[in-house]
Formats: sequence, structure tokens, C-alpha cells
Amino acid sequence: MILRYLFGHPFDTEAVPNKPAVSDGPVPYLSVEKDGSSLSMTLSDDDVVYGLGETVRGMNKRGWIYVSYNTDEFLHMETTKSLYASQNFLLVTNGLRSLGIFVDCPGEVTFDIGYTKMDRLCIRPAKPDFELYLVTSAKMDPAAARRDVVHHFRRLIGKSYLPPLFAFGYGQSRWGYKSEDDVEEVADSYERMGVPLDAIYLDIDYMDHFKDFTVNEETFPDFPGFVSRMKDRGIHLVPIIDAGIRKEEGYCVYEEGKKNGYFVKDKDGKDFTAAVWPGEVCFPDVLSSRARQWFGSQYDVLLDAGIDGFWNDMNEPSIFYTPERLNQAIRNVAGYEGKDLDVNAFMRLRDEMGTLSNNREDYRNMFHDADGTKVCHDDVHNLFGFNMTRAAGEHFLKACGEGKVLLFSRSSYIGMHRYGGVWTGDNRTWWSHLKLSLQQQPALNMAGFLYSGSDMGGFMDDTTEDLMLRWLSASLFTPLYRNHAALGTRQKELYRFPHRSWFENLVQLRYALIPYIYAQFRKARDDDAMYFAPLSFFYGNDERVMQIEDQLMAGEDVMIAPVVEQNKTGRMVYLPEDMTLVRFRSFEDYDTVPLAKGDHYVSCALNEALVFIRKGHVLPLGVPAANTAELDLGNLTQIRG
Ligand code: GLC
Repeated sequence: MILRYLFGHPFDTEAVPNKPAVSDGPVPYLSVEKDGSSLSMTLSDDDVVYGLGETVRGMNKRGWIYVSYNTDEFLHMETTKSLYASQNFLLVTNGLRSLGIFVDCPGEVTFDIGYTKMDRLCIRPAKPDFELYLVTSAKMDPAAARRDVVHHFRRLIGKSYLPPLFAFGYGQSRWGYKSEDDVEEVADSYERMGVPLDAIYLDIDYMDHFKDFTVNEETFPDFPGFVSRMKDRGIHLVPIIDAGIRKEEGYCVYEEGKKNGYFVKDKDGKDFTAAVWPGEVCFPDVLSSRARQWFGSQYDVLLDAGIDGFWNDMNEPSIFYTPERLNQAIRNVAGYEGKDLDVNAFMRLRDEMGTLSNNREDYRNMFHDADGTKVCHDDVHNLFGFNMTRAAGEHFLKACGEGKVLLFSRSSYIGMHRYGGVWTGDNRTWWSHLKLSLQQQPALNMAGFLYSGSDMGGFMDDTTEDLMLRWLSASLFTPLYRNHAALGTRQKELYRFPHRSWFENLVQLRYALIPYIYAQFRKARDDDAMYFAPLSFFYGNDERVMQIEDQLMAGEDVMIAPVVEQNKTGRMVYLPEDMTLVRFRSFEDYDTVPLAKGDHYVSCALNEALVFIRKGHVLPLGVPAANTAELDLGNLTQIRG
């Protein structure tokens, strides 16, 4: 059952396309402050709180405070409160009941999940203008009830985005591939190595001076020709698109946006100016349907060049500085010259520059024209990435049809899942981030984001070969399978590591699993179900599974339990029922071991990957190919559980 309540004067986020009628009567399950300033409930000892999409910490969100306010946060620490996305759906569940809570609020919302009081969930929107949805299930079995609540919620928010098949192949990315030659070298090296490859990503380096919808003609002299040559080799080029449009006279995207009033305004009604990669930029007003259509149509220049995949970035939107704030800071800093600074003065000096980026005051000075209604950006901040991606997604549906264009975004809000997927942003080469990348998946799936993944091997800092191996192995079932790295970090294309054959075997195994991954992904999408789920969504009457944070169900037939710690050659695994362990060394070299329900220590060397098949279920296995277009989806063997 779904109940809907209104508080104050909510902005229509369009997260829910067909809204049910507003319920009359008091809100059940939650204590509500009359003015909507807080919603709270007592958590019993056995309550687990799942959800909140892409956030830090474990699958069970209890014990921390999270703030939905989309932020370009480069440190994903245990204590980080906000990341790039706001996916305000929670599932509070124990053996007796499951309650889904969706706080549809485009501005800041705080979720205090046992932080202030360990047994209390308290939700506080910064402004009490929002819609609240409560979802329950009549199913008696706790696992069925959990699945049912998510299913009803997902039906409410609409079908998830469907990517093309090549989106499930291996992708190589790096901030720093500057030219055709760089890209060709990557393609050649993978070909020589015998590792399948479906995509090479183009980071900001492909553009002319970081200008969206341009290509540097010196480094890519015949871009359409190059795109087509790569496609003939089965490789799709996937360029990045940033939120900001460079302010430059004569640059037609800027000129057109300015002339037609398509940019976000400041409080005086002038185009709001901020600085990001190219220096000064304006942001497309993606809350206006006219501007959204216009922005979407800009992708044509790349679609026409043969491109069929994009990643949308910096769309929180991220701001390095605004010219006014920068100039003021420079003046302030000058005032410190020659002074003897005590600790407080020194801190103030440091903050002059430290507070320039993503400054909340700047978001308060941005205004949208939401089809005739003037809205302060800060109140609808979390909708920017959603609507930038929606602009592209709506255009691709019209121009190319469904399932044709790969599209994913860094920032998001529920509703964006209908137009594209997400990647989890600038993680690090930390083992804890490998574990986090798995823990984020079920919460993203609940919120509709089935197509997602992390930067394998870690984005920031130098990676290590063992981390890279474990990450590729832990992500074998993850829809987005991309190796991406930050500028200046250790090069981590797989052919650069000594154990080449181990990497080759892993990526080939990924391709052998694609028939299963794709079929299960489609099923989850068509049925409004989860592709990755916590074990408690299948084994409801087993209290042990509520505690499990590092094992996942991947589709309906298998469980994964990857090694996510350094220097470990195995791990403990809990089996909630009898299962068959498949220990893969390659797609054709594997052992199967029947294991009984209960605890097991399983070894797993760096060149191995473990998959657990549920009793009575079957894992189909294909034969790898150079890319997904060459996969023979009909040629499958079956491993029985
Ligand atoms: C942002 C993105 C990252 C990208 C970089 C340069 O940090 O999150 O993936 O490589 O910008 O475009």
C-alpha cells in the first residue's frame, strides 16, 4: 500500500510521474511535527534501515547522520555526510514489518539514523515543503515483504533506464587521454593482450579548451572518422559532458544560451557566472523545459559524429569559485601581508581560499525559471544533475529510441533513474572503498538506479595490482564495469601490470557472465525489482542475514562474497541455504563445490573469483568474445546449483 502526504508547498520534483491521491487523516508510523519540520520514529533493536542510495557506511544505515545535499565531495570518508546524489528512500525493516519512506524534497534533508539517539530515526527537511510517501506490504514472509515494498516504490517512480548491451562490457577510462594516438594505443594494447573491450572513455581532455560539445581539432583531426574506425573495432568512444558552458564570445553554445535566456540567473536577473574547468561558465537552466530541450539537442553534434554513449559530470553543480567571491578573497588575503598571524587569524586566511568552492551562498544566489515560476536554486539544489541528465535522456529517446545510448551521471535524484545510470564518483584506491562500492549497490537499486558502478581500482591516488584484481573480481556482476583513474595517478590499464593473464581471465569471465547479467538486469528492470539485493531480501526468516554487509545477491540465482581486504587469501562466508561454490580461475577452468547452509572459510587466491549458486538454480555461462557485439548469447553452458 502507498500513502501520500503533502507538507507546505512542495515543488514538483517529477520523481513520481503518476501521483496517487493525497491521503487524508494523520500520518501513520511516524511522529510528525505539525509544521513538517521533522518526522521521526523509534527503532527497535532488530530494525535494519536500508536505502539512501549512494551514501557512505554500510548497507544498514543505522548509527550515522546523512545529509541529502548534492556535493562534489572528493573525500568519501566514514564521516562524510553528503555525496553527489540524493536518493531519499529508506526501508525500515525487521522480522515483523517493513516500511518504505520516500521524502520527496528537492532541497536539503537530514536523515539522523540513530546518531543523536541510537534508537531514533529523525528526518528533518531544511524547509518543510515536501511530499512524503509511505509504502507497506501485506506479505507475511519478511523477505517477500521487503521485495514487495521496493517493488511498489519502484512502480511509483517509473521504469529504470535501459542501457545498450555494450554498456555491460569492459570500459577503459583515464583523465589524461589527450589524443587519437593515446586512445589508439589503449585499444591496440588491449587487443594485443587479448582482453575484451567495449568502450574507451574520453575525459575533459578531448574538448577544445574544456568546452562542452566541442572536440579539439588538433588532437582529434577527424573525429567522426576516428569514432567510426574505433567502432569498426567494436569499441565505443564515450565522451564526458560537464554542466557548465564556457562563457566565451563566439562559442555558439554559449551565444545561443545567452541569447535565448537558457542560463540560470543571479539575484539581479543576470546570467549567473561561476568557474569550473574552462574558467568562467554559465549553467543551463535545466528546470525550464525549453532550456532542457535546447541543452539535450546540443548532444547532436556528438551523436552525428557517431557517438552513442555519454557520462554527465560536475552536475551537483560543482563550482570552483565565483568571480566576485574570488576577487573579494584576493583582496582579503592581501590585507594579511606582513602581519604576525595568531592561530585564529591564520585559519581565517586559509579559509579565504578554502571556502571558495561549492559555497552555499553561491547556490542561494542562483535562480531557475521552472516554466514560469522563479525558484531559488538552493531550494531545489538536488534536482540539477537529474534534470541535466533528463535533458540528454529525453533527447536520446526522441532522436535514437530506447536502449540505444549509454548515459550515466555523477549527480542524481530519484526520477533520474528513468533517463540514465550513475557512477559513484571520485572514490580512492582504498580497500574500504572496494567494500563501499558493493554496499552502495542495493541502496541504489531500491531507488531505481540499476545501472551503476564505481571506478574500479579507485579513482584518486595510486592503485596496486592486488586491489585492481580484487576490484575486477568483486565487480564481475556490476552493470557498469569501468576502470577509471585521476590525472597524475599511477597508470592502471590492465596491460601495465605483471600478471596479465590473471586480468585477461577475469575480464573474459566477465564476458562469459554477460548473458546472465543482462538477462537478470532486464528482468529486474521489467519487474521493477532489484538486481543487487541484500541477502535479507531472499532469506527473511534467518536473523543472521540481517547482519551481513559484504555478501550480496546478484540477480535471482547467485550470491557473491568477494574478498575485499588486502593480503587475505580467503574469507568467512555465511550461506543461508545449501549452495554450490564455483571457484573460477577462468571461464573454462573452474571447480564446483557443494556447501551446506552455515559458516564456511573459503580460500580465494588473487587469480580466482568465487560465485555461489543457489540450490536448484542455474548459472548460464557464455563464451567470451572481443566485445559484446560478438558475443553469442545463444551458446551457453549451465552450471547447476
Ligand atoms: C571529476 C569526475 C572524474 C573526472 C574529472 C575530470 O572529478 O568525477 O571522473 O575524471 O572530473 O573530468
